[in-house]
Amino acid sequence: MQEWLREEIGRQGGLTFAEFMANCLYHPQHGYYQSPQVRIGRQGDFFTSSSVHRVFGSLVARQLVDMWRCMGGGEFVVVEQGPGEGHLALDILDDLRQTEPEFYSELRYFLVEQNIVSRQRQSELLIKHQAKVDWALEDEIEPFSGCLLSNELIDAFPVHVVEVRGGELQEVFVVNSNDGFAEDLRAPSTSDLQTHLDWLGCGPVEGNRAEINLEAVRWLHRISARLQRGFILTIDYGYPSKELFAPQRRQGTLLCYDKHQAHDNPYQNAGCQDITTHVDFGALQKAGEDAGLQTLWFGEQYRFLMGLGFVEELMVLQAREQDPLRQRQLRLSLKNLIMPDGGMGDTFKVLVQGKGVGQPDLACARSISEIPLPPPM
Ligand SMILES: C[S@@+](CC[C@H](N)C(=O)[O-])C[C@H]1O[C@@H](n2cnc3c(N)ncnc32)[C@H](O)[C@@H]1O
Repeated sequence: MQEWLREEIGRQGGLTFAEFMANCLYHPQHGYYQSPQVRIGRQGDFFTSSSVHRVFGSLVARQLVDMWRCMGGGEFVVVEQGPGEGHLALDILDDLRQTEPEFYSELRYFLVEQNIVSRQRQSELLIKHQAKVDWALEDEIEPFSGCLLSNELIDAFPVHVVEVRGGELQEVFVVNSNDGFAEDLRAPSTSDLQTHLDWLGCGPVEGNRAEINLEAVRWLHRISARLQRGFILTIDYGYPSKELFAPQRRQGTLLCYDKHQAHDNPYQNAGCQDITTHVDFGALQKAGEDAGLQTLWFGEQYRFLMGLGFVEELMVLQAREQDPLRQRQLRLSLKNLIMPDGGMGDTFKVLVQGKGVGQPDLACARSISEIPLPPPM
């Protein structure tokens, strides 16, 4: 990957950070997400909520059932984009087959996956649901009614990196240096960057660096054009725009993951590490409204999971587990899904958008005061 990038940079005189990131992650031969290796879970580079515990998938399944009921039942299509190793799909389908057979019988589940080896692993994992599942590329998805689901998809879209210097928007380009890559601040490669910030009404302040995920907005428009009626359920780490561009966030949010080590240097191990940025949920909501979607719910992952029955699930699982050590392990791994500091509960957000479904009271919106807490010991 490094050799290819150096040649390309030599040929073009520099790549925007978005082009550099797109190649590091998705270059057909050398890109991180094109390689056959396992990327998620203990043997990979990072954990995702669905790789932590199957409870995550069971609770997302509760929300899908609720959406199906809100739509009056009948055929329901779930399109999961960026399904990783397929854990979320498996946990959802296992849960639904057992607890909601009627919904399961109405369901078709599409996985939008471009990597052939990942498709193969997903199809082996989902073998018992093979009559329900199918694979497609995004542009092969037919107009559908149901739910477009993603977990940690948008943080993997290539982003432009910008800085404000002397009141002017500048863009980071990647150039060759003696021992690898270096950055060069130049005039923006496209006027779309300034147009995006003007549309958003928000952006980085003088001296700060930030990422602009133009692809997230384009993606939402493409997806909502295919959604006839139903929901878009987006789970990812990120912030509302004002928090993302807050003056104290001087260096943006770019992070790399390599064998469970997080760091902020995208120029090492090109093609062998994940590169991510936090999602601008304000931009997703605003783009959705432009595209005819309503924001139905937005909040932290812990609130979403609690609303759907996290505490009740934890009590059932604890009661089933007799061994105190295993009970403790269970509590620790589940704690990860909801803990704010260092866990996934707070930085991770959930956005539910709807089209043609009115303003339903979604199951995830149940307030924490309605949760039956266990009696004190
Ligand atoms: C962090 S991983 C997803 C993790 C997974 N959803 C989970 O819960 O374990 C991000 C995935 O999004 C995929 N991806 C990125 N852009 C995509 C696109 N336009 N269509 C489909 N998948 C995409 C990447 O290939 C990668 O597999």
